[in-house]
Amino acid sequence: MHDIIWKIAAQLIPVSDTPLLDARLLCQAAQDDSDKLNTYIERRLKHEPVSKIIGKRGFWKADFLSTVDVLDPRPDSEILIDAVLRFYPKHRNPYRILDIGVGSGCLLFSLLDEYPIATGIGIDKSIKALQVAEKNQQGRSATLIQADFTQENWSVDLGQFDIVVSNPPYIPSADIDKLAPDVYLYDPRDALDGGTDGLDAYRHLTKRVYSLLKPNAFLFLEIGINQAEPVSALFQAAGLSLVETAVDFGAIPRALIFRKK
Ligand SMILES: C[S@@+](CC[C@H](N)C(=O)[O-])C[C@H]1O[C@@H](n2cnc3c(N)ncnc32)[C@H](O)[C@@H]1O
Repeated sequence: MHDIIWKIAAQLIPVSDTPLLDARLLCQAAQDDSDKLNTYIERRLKHEPVSKIIGKRGFWKADFLSTVDVLDPRPDSEILIDAVLRFYPKHRNPYRILDIGVGSGCLLFSLLDEYPIATGIGIDKSIKALQVAEKNQQGRSATLIQADFTQENWSVDLGQFDIVVSNPPYIPSADIDKLAPDVYLYDPRDALDGGTDGLDAYRHLTKRVYSLLKPNAFLFLEIGINQAEPVSALFQAAGLSLVETAVDFGAIPRALIFRKK
Protein backbone atom coordinates (compact mmCIF):
# COMPACT_ATOMS: atom_id res chain seq x y z
CA MET A 1 0.00 0.00 0.00
CA HIS A 2 2.83 2.32 0.95
CA ASP A 3 4.42 1.94 -2.54
CA ILE A 4 1.10 2.60 -4.26
CA ILE A 5 0.57 5.78 -2.25
CA TRP A 6 4.05 7.04 -3.20
CA LYS A 7 3.46 6.24 -6.90
CA ILE A 8 0.13 8.07 -6.90
CA ALA A 9 1.68 11.00 -5.04
CA ALA A 10 4.34 11.28 -7.76
CA GLN A 11 1.59 11.46 -10.40
CA LEU A 12 -0.21 14.18 -8.47
CA ILE A 13 2.79 16.50 -8.01
CA PRO A 14 1.88 18.70 -11.04
CA VAL A 15 -1.63 19.42 -9.69
CA SER A 16 -1.22 19.42 -5.92
CA ASP A 17 0.75 21.12 -3.16
CA THR A 18 -0.02 18.14 -0.90
CA PRO A 19 0.40 15.10 -3.21
CA LEU A 20 1.19 12.57 -0.47
CA LEU A 21 -1.78 13.55 1.66
CA ASP A 22 -4.03 13.55 -1.42
CA ALA A 23 -2.81 10.10 -2.45
CA ARG A 24 -3.41 8.74 1.06
CA LEU A 25 -6.96 10.15 1.26
CA LEU A 26 -7.87 8.89 -2.22
CA CYS A 27 -6.55 5.39 -1.42
CA GLN A 28 -8.47 5.32 1.86
CA ALA A 29 -11.69 6.40 0.14
CA ALA A 30 -11.29 3.88 -2.71
CA GLN A 31 -11.11 1.01 -0.19
CA ASP A 32 -9.05 -1.38 -2.35
CA ASP A 33 -11.28 -0.85 -5.41
CA SER A 34 -8.68 -0.19 -8.10
CA ASP A 35 -11.20 1.03 -10.73
CA LYS A 36 -12.53 3.53 -8.23
CA LEU A 37 -9.01 4.61 -7.32
CA ASN A 38 -8.09 5.17 -11.01
CA THR A 39 -11.19 7.29 -11.50
CA TYR A 40 -10.29 9.32 -8.41
CA ILE A 41 -6.76 9.89 -9.71
CA GLU A 42 -8.06 10.98 -13.13
CA ARG A 43 -10.42 13.44 -11.44
CA ARG A 44 -7.63 14.82 -9.22
CA LEU A 45 -5.41 15.25 -12.30
CA LYS A 46 -8.18 17.51 -13.67
CA HIS A 47 -7.74 19.66 -10.53
CA GLU A 48 -10.87 18.47 -8.74
CA PRO A 49 -10.13 18.90 -5.01
CA VAL A 50 -9.82 15.70 -2.97
CA SER A 51 -12.69 16.83 -0.74
CA LYS A 52 -15.05 17.03 -3.71
CA ILE A 53 -13.89 13.63 -5.00
CA ILE A 54 -14.37 11.85 -1.69
CA GLY A 55 -17.34 14.08 -0.78
CA LYS A 56 -16.20 15.42 2.57
CA ARG A 57 -13.85 17.88 4.20
CA GLY A 58 -12.74 18.10 7.81
CA PHE A 59 -13.38 21.50 9.42
CA TRP A 60 -12.83 22.34 13.10
CA LYS A 61 -13.98 19.14 14.85
CA ALA A 62 -16.25 17.51 12.26
CA ASP A 63 -16.43 16.32 8.65
CA PHE A 64 -18.72 18.20 6.27
CA LEU A 65 -20.20 17.07 2.97
CA SER A 66 -18.61 19.19 0.24
CA THR A 67 -19.86 19.34 -3.37
CA VAL A 68 -19.53 21.69 -6.33
CA ASP A 69 -22.52 23.60 -4.91
CA VAL A 70 -20.64 24.89 -1.86
CA LEU A 71 -17.34 26.54 -1.06
CA ASP A 72 -14.97 23.91 0.20
CA PRO A 73 -14.55 24.59 3.95
CA ARG A 74 -11.15 26.26 4.38
CA PRO A 75 -8.74 25.86 7.32
CA ASP A 76 -8.30 29.66 7.41
CA SER A 77 -12.01 30.08 8.19
CA GLU A 78 -11.47 28.21 11.46
CA ILE A 79 -10.06 31.53 12.70
CA LEU A 80 -13.66 32.75 12.94
CA ILE A 81 -14.59 29.84 15.22
CA ASP A 82 -11.51 30.41 17.36
CA ALA A 83 -12.37 34.12 17.67
CA VAL A 84 -16.00 33.47 18.66
CA LEU A 85 -14.82 31.05 21.36
CA ARG A 86 -12.49 33.68 22.78
CA PHE A 87 -15.17 36.38 22.93
CA TYR A 88 -17.99 34.06 24.12
CA PRO A 89 -16.45 31.80 26.78
CA LYS A 90 -19.78 30.82 28.39
CA HIS A 91 -20.63 27.70 26.44
CA ARG A 92 -23.89 27.00 28.26
CA ASN A 93 -25.65 30.23 27.26
CA PRO A 94 -28.60 30.01 24.83
CA TYR A 95 -26.97 32.27 22.26
CA ARG A 96 -28.75 33.10 18.99
CA ILE A 97 -26.24 32.77 16.16
CA LEU A 98 -26.65 34.00 12.56
CA ASP A 99 -24.42 32.82 9.68
CA ILE A 100 -24.80 35.01 6.58
CA GLY A 101 -23.83 32.97 3.49
CA VAL A 102 -23.97 29.64 5.29
CA GLY A 103 -22.76 27.48 2.34
CA SER A 104 -21.93 23.96 3.61
CA GLY A 105 -22.81 25.08 7.15
CA CYS A 106 -19.28 24.48 8.42
CA LEU A 107 -19.17 27.74 10.44
CA LEU A 108 -22.67 27.63 11.91
CA PHE A 109 -22.62 23.92 12.73
CA SER A 110 -19.13 24.07 14.26
CA LEU A 111 -20.35 26.88 16.53
CA LEU A 112 -23.48 24.96 17.49
CA ASP A 113 -21.26 22.00 18.41
CA GLU A 114 -19.35 24.30 20.78
CA TYR A 115 -22.46 25.95 22.28
CA PRO A 116 -24.81 23.04 23.03
CA ILE A 117 -27.86 25.10 23.95
CA ALA A 118 -27.43 27.82 21.30
CA THR A 119 -29.69 28.04 18.25
CA GLY A 120 -28.71 29.13 14.78
CA ILE A 121 -30.03 30.60 11.57
CA GLY A 122 -28.10 30.12 8.35
CA ILE A 123 -29.04 32.09 5.26
CA ASP A 124 -27.87 31.65 1.71
CA LYS A 125 -29.22 32.70 -1.67
CA SER A 126 -28.25 29.35 -3.22
CA ILE A 127 -30.90 26.63 -2.86
CA LYS A 128 -28.31 24.04 -3.85
CA ALA A 129 -25.94 25.21 -1.11
CA LEU A 130 -28.80 25.06 1.40
CA GLN A 131 -29.51 21.46 0.35
CA VAL A 132 -25.89 20.57 1.17
CA ALA A 133 -26.15 22.44 4.49
CA GLU A 134 -29.34 20.51 5.28
CA LYS A 135 -27.45 17.23 4.86
CA ASN A 136 -24.67 18.55 7.10
CA GLN A 137 -27.08 19.73 9.78
CA GLN A 138 -27.46 16.30 11.42
CA GLY A 139 -29.85 17.27 14.19
CA ARG A 140 -28.15 20.53 15.14
CA SER A 141 -30.55 23.23 16.30
CA ALA A 142 -30.57 25.46 13.23
CA THR A 143 -32.98 26.92 10.69
CA LEU A 144 -31.78 27.28 7.10
CA ILE A 145 -33.39 30.03 5.09
CA GLN A 146 -33.08 31.10 1.47
CA ALA A 147 -32.42 34.86 1.44
CA ASP A 148 -30.42 37.22 -0.75
CA PHE A 149 -28.63 39.92 1.22
CA THR A 150 -28.52 42.23 -1.81
CA GLN A 151 -32.32 42.53 -1.60
CA GLU A 152 -33.97 45.10 0.63
CA ASN A 153 -35.67 43.67 3.72
CA TRP A 154 -33.88 40.30 3.43
CA SER A 155 -33.48 40.13 7.20
CA VAL A 156 -36.53 41.88 8.63
CA ASP A 157 -38.08 38.75 10.15
CA LEU A 158 -34.90 37.33 11.67
CA GLY A 159 -34.81 39.24 14.99
CA GLN A 160 -31.55 40.05 16.79
CA PHE A 161 -28.53 37.87 17.49
CA ASP A 162 -25.79 37.48 20.10
CA ILE A 163 -23.30 36.33 17.47
CA VAL A 164 -23.23 37.08 13.73
CA VAL A 165 -20.65 35.37 11.53
CA SER A 166 -20.09 35.74 7.82
CA ASN A 167 -17.59 34.58 5.24
CA PRO A 168 -19.05 36.40 2.25
CA PRO A 169 -17.76 36.27 -1.34
CA TYR A 170 -14.80 38.68 -1.43
CA ILE A 171 -12.62 37.92 -4.46
CA PRO A 172 -12.49 40.82 -6.97
CA SER A 173 -14.26 39.53 -10.13
CA ALA A 174 -11.21 39.98 -12.35
CA ASP A 175 -9.04 37.90 -10.00
CA ILE A 176 -11.20 34.77 -9.96
CA ASP A 177 -9.64 33.24 -13.08
CA LYS A 178 -6.19 33.84 -11.58
CA LEU A 179 -6.97 31.60 -8.59
CA ALA A 180 -5.90 27.95 -8.54
CA PRO A 181 -7.99 25.83 -10.95
CA ASP A 182 -9.08 23.73 -7.94
CA VAL A 183 -10.90 26.86 -6.78
CA TYR A 184 -12.21 28.56 -9.90
CA LEU A 185 -13.31 25.29 -11.53
CA TYR A 186 -14.89 23.63 -8.48
CA ASP A 187 -16.07 26.29 -6.02
CA PRO A 188 -19.32 28.08 -7.00
CA ARG A 189 -18.72 31.52 -8.51
CA ASP A 190 -21.38 33.01 -6.22
CA ALA A 191 -19.29 31.90 -3.25
CA LEU A 192 -16.23 33.75 -4.57
CA ASP A 193 -17.26 36.80 -6.57
CA GLY A 194 -17.17 40.00 -4.52
CA GLY A 195 -17.67 42.38 -7.47
CA THR A 196 -15.19 44.80 -9.02
CA ASP A 197 -13.21 45.56 -5.86
CA GLY A 198 -14.26 42.47 -3.88
CA LEU A 199 -16.23 44.57 -1.39
CA ASP A 200 -19.80 44.37 -2.77
CA ALA A 201 -21.06 41.85 -0.19
CA TYR A 202 -19.64 43.89 2.71
CA ARG A 203 -21.37 47.03 1.42
CA HIS A 204 -24.69 45.17 1.35
CA LEU A 205 -24.15 43.71 4.82
CA THR A 206 -23.48 47.14 6.35
CA LYS A 207 -27.07 48.13 5.58
CA ARG A 208 -28.64 45.55 7.92
CA VAL A 209 -26.01 44.19 10.26
CA TYR A 210 -26.36 46.85 12.96
CA SER A 211 -30.04 46.05 13.44
CA LEU A 212 -29.32 42.30 13.44
CA LEU A 213 -27.01 42.56 16.45
CA LYS A 214 -28.27 42.73 20.04
CA PRO A 215 -26.71 45.56 22.10
CA ASN A 216 -23.00 44.78 22.76
CA ALA A 217 -23.15 41.76 20.44
CA PHE A 218 -20.26 40.86 18.12
CA LEU A 219 -19.86 40.44 14.35
CA PHE A 220 -17.14 38.08 13.06
CA LEU A 221 -16.26 38.68 9.41
CA GLU A 222 -13.83 36.84 7.16
CA ILE A 223 -11.95 39.12 4.75
CA GLY A 224 -9.63 38.75 1.76
CA ILE A 225 -6.10 40.00 1.18
CA ASN A 226 -5.70 43.80 1.61
CA GLN A 227 -9.32 44.21 2.72
CA ALA A 228 -8.80 44.90 6.44
CA GLU A 229 -8.73 48.69 6.07
CA PRO A 230 -11.61 49.22 3.62
CA VAL A 231 -13.85 46.66 5.35
CA SER A 232 -13.21 48.05 8.82
CA ALA A 233 -13.98 51.56 7.50
CA LEU A 234 -17.29 50.34 6.01
CA PHE A 235 -18.49 48.70 9.23
CA GLN A 236 -17.28 51.50 11.50
CA ALA A 237 -19.29 53.90 9.32
CA ALA A 238 -22.27 51.58 9.97
CA GLY A 239 -21.92 52.19 13.74
CA LEU A 240 -19.81 49.22 14.84
CA SER A 241 -16.48 49.35 16.74
CA LEU A 242 -13.54 47.30 15.50
CA VAL A 243 -12.23 45.25 18.42
CA GLU A 244 -9.73 42.90 16.76
CA THR A 245 -8.07 41.97 13.49
CA ALA A 246 -7.21 38.25 13.52
CA VAL A 247 -4.47 36.85 11.26
CA ASP A 248 -4.42 33.50 9.45
CA PHE A 249 -1.73 30.79 9.41
CA GLY A 250 0.26 32.88 6.91
CA ALA A 251 0.08 35.97 9.20
CA ILE A 252 -2.36 37.67 6.78
CA PRO A 253 -5.28 39.64 8.33
CA ARG A 254 -8.17 37.22 7.72
CA ALA A 255 -10.95 38.15 10.13
CA LEU A 256 -12.35 41.35 11.60
CA ILE A 257 -14.26 41.38 14.86
CA PHE A 258 -16.69 44.21 15.53
CA ARG A 259 -18.90 45.09 18.46
CA LYS A 260 -22.18 46.97 18.45
CA LYS A 261 -21.67 50.03 20.61
C1 LIG B 1 -17.42 32.26 0.71
S1 LIG B 1 -18.89 31.25 0.77
C2 LIG B 1 -18.90 30.83 2.51
C3 LIG B 1 -19.58 29.53 2.81
C4 LIG B 1 -19.40 29.05 4.25
N1 LIG B 1 -19.95 29.99 5.20
C5 LIG B 1 -17.93 28.83 4.56
O1 LIG B 1 -17.35 29.65 5.30
O2 LIG B 1 -17.33 27.87 4.06
C6 LIG B 1 -20.11 32.51 0.62
C7 LIG B 1 -21.56 32.01 0.62
O3 LIG B 1 -22.40 33.18 0.46
C8 LIG B 1 -23.47 32.86 -0.41
N2 LIG B 1 -23.91 34.12 -1.04
C9 LIG B 1 -23.30 34.81 -2.01
N3 LIG B 1 -24.02 35.91 -2.33
C10 LIG B 1 -25.10 35.90 -1.52
C11 LIG B 1 -26.22 36.76 -1.37
N4 LIG B 1 -26.36 37.85 -2.15
N5 LIG B 1 -27.14 36.47 -0.44
C12 LIG B 1 -27.01 35.34 0.35
N6 LIG B 1 -25.98 34.48 0.23
C13 LIG B 1 -25.04 34.75 -0.68
C14 LIG B 1 -22.87 31.88 -1.40
O4 LIG B 1 -23.89 31.12 -2.03
C15 LIG B 1 -21.93 31.07 -0.52
O5 LIG B 1 -22.56 29.93 -0.01
